[in-house]
Amino acid sequence: MSHDVAGLYRRLRAEHGTVAPVLLEGDIPAWLVLGYREAHFVASRGDLYDRDSARWNAWDLVPPDWPLRPALGKADSVSWVTGTEHARHSDAIHEVLAAVDPFELRHRCERIADELVDAFADRGQAELMYSYAHVMPARAVAGMLGIPDEDTSEMVQDLVTLFDHGADALAAHGRLMALVTRLITLRRDSPGFDAISRLITHPAAFTDEEALQDIFVLLAAGQQPTAYWIGNTLRLLLADARFATTLAGGRRSVGQAMAEVLWEDPPIANFTGRWAVHTGQLGGQRIQAGDMLVIGAAAANADPDVRPDPSAGSGGNQAHLTFGHGEHRCPFPAQELAEVIAQTSIEVLLDRLPDLTLAVPADDLLWNQAIWVRGLTVLPVTFTPS
Ligand code: HEM
Repeated sequence: MSHDVAGLYRRLRAEHGTVAPVLLEGDIPAWLVLGYREAHFVASRGDLYDRDSARWNAWDLVPPDWPLRPALGKADSVSWVTGTEHARHSDAIHEVLAAVDPFELRHRCERIADELVDAFADRGQAELMYSYAHVMPARAVAGMLGIPDEDTSEMVQDLVTLFDHGADALAAHGRLMALVTRLITLRRDSPGFDAISRLITHPAAFTDEEALQDIFVLLAAGQQPTAYWIGNTLRLLLADARFATTLAGGRRSVGQAMAEVLWEDPPIANFTGRWAVHTGQLGGQRIQAGDMLVIGAAAANADPDVRPDPSAGSGGNQAHLTFGHGEHRCPFPAQELAEVIAQTSIEVLLDRLPDLTLAVPADDLLWNQAIWVRGLTVLPVTFTPS
């Protein structure tokens, strides 16, 4: 993925309009939906663009070891089921997440953040993505799920390894699944007040396999985007003069920067598959039944048809597509929990290290190359040791 993604989306739009033909890794064809109205339409109309990858007319092009296969495969989790089955999963997840006390979560995040900052505060320098931004949401979600302390550090490491897509990713995935399977068995025998217990005792009556899939979605969906929300907001706060002048003055700027990041640098830049149920037109393109569409949230958020003056700011408007839209949008309680985790992480860091400064020029910071995400690879900073 290009460093200048905004420029890339502009070029695609100029050449193809609001829906562009693209090639995913391995030259696999798909449509990238760049227009806000078109992206909104595709996400809203699950009856026309559904989540059933069995429809895909390009499966014969996909090699068995295609790296994106796990992200597009069919599973019985909330992310992939549709209709009444989706409502069954989604309602239960909404209830389970809504039962998390945001004050208790904030308190837990403050403790985790202090502990993480303690580990590098006397050094005067740190790399914040791996020592902080990735770890904060992983540990916060581990706490919500009631993952025992003795398992947390390996679990956090495995979650981070999984998203690095390196050689150990598959083994990390296996260990995470084994851990969640073990916890489901334990909680079936002796339920507690954690999210795993609430999910498996919910009247939706999930099987162990269904619970495993959904809990894995909570772990994965909760960690990576929240980590990049933290990292992208810290970059904005530290690199942009508009925020630098207010940083010392109070916390209001943190909320403003977080809101701006949701429009300008959405942590999930493009969402994985929707498949066209019928042949038809979208954004002037002829889409065949079974074609795959990728919803381009980052491009749609910057669509000049809905934001003719990008420098004007959002003015509190939250109609971005960063949390998705329609049946499969990010559950509202999850968005609130993500906000508590991200905001607490950023506020504690800035309270503890008030003269935090980027260790390299902002333009030298590197972005993750995966097309699905918008997040920094590393975030090196300096500060006065304490
Ligand atoms: C900055 C943080 C987050 C962002 C940007 C984000 C974004 C998204 C997006 C875009 C989707 C929809 C994908 C699609 O339609 O294909 C989604 C779904 C989901 N997210 Fe989030 N998310 C965040 C945090 C969280 C957290 C903290 C949790 C839970 C702990 C969570 C749980 C879920 C679940 C369960 C789904 C699946 C919903 C469904 O398919 O019905 N997310 N998220």
